[in-house]
Amino acid sequence: MDSADVISDLSRVLYQGPEIQRQIARLAAQIDDDYAGLSEQDLILVGVLNGAVMVMADLSRSLKTHCQMEWMAISSYGSGTTSSGVLRILKDLSVDIAGRHVLVVEDIIDTGLTLSYLIDNLRSRGPASVEVMTAFRKPEASKCPVDVKYVGFDIPADFVVGYGLDYAGRYRNLTDLGVLDPKVYTR
Ligand code: XMP
Ligand code: MG
Repeated sequence: MDSADVISDLSRVLYQGPEIQRQIARLAAQIDDDYAGLSEQDLILVGVLNGAVMVMADLSRSLKTHCQMEWMAISSYGSGTTSSGVLRILKDLSVDIAGRHVLVVEDIIDTGLTLSYLIDNLRSRGPASVEVMTAFRKPEASKCPVDVKYVGFDIPADFVVGYGLDYAGRYRNLTDLGVLDPKVYTR
């Protein structure tokens, strides 16, 4: 679906799908350059489920470098909308990353709590390197100690949906990125 299909649920459209894909392709070219000749072994892309499915699909297909695709699922303990900072791995990697070059592929970084936890966890496994690519980044992320090497778009602090990002399981299949109208979550 595109924005026109859910236009009454959005307060504005931030980026159209093709624009997002062009930016992801630019990052892919940078990643190709950065990893050229770095290792005999393929780069490992680690996607964070479920939000990173679209960015993983677009990034991996734009790369000219060989890569393996792996997935992790992480959940925050506790309920509500604020993250407790205590996280739990729901699905772990199916490969050993010791000595490998790892690139974490994220949909969005807000406070960076999820990412900090994930990076510490991955580093403890002895990879050759760990870098991060995210499609979107919110302003709060500036407080996060994790260095994010590849950023698609810096966006406002509003709650956004589309391009893999959901509200209550919906809008992941929206090709564009839009700000969800607050009336959707207050009704
Ligand atoms: P932290 O704060 O740990 O949060 O960086 C990252 C995770 O929070 C979710 N998130 C969002 N999901 N629209 C969404 O659909 C948003 O605007 C949004 N902001 C944060 C997301 O799961 C992300 O991985
Ligand atoms: Mg996520």
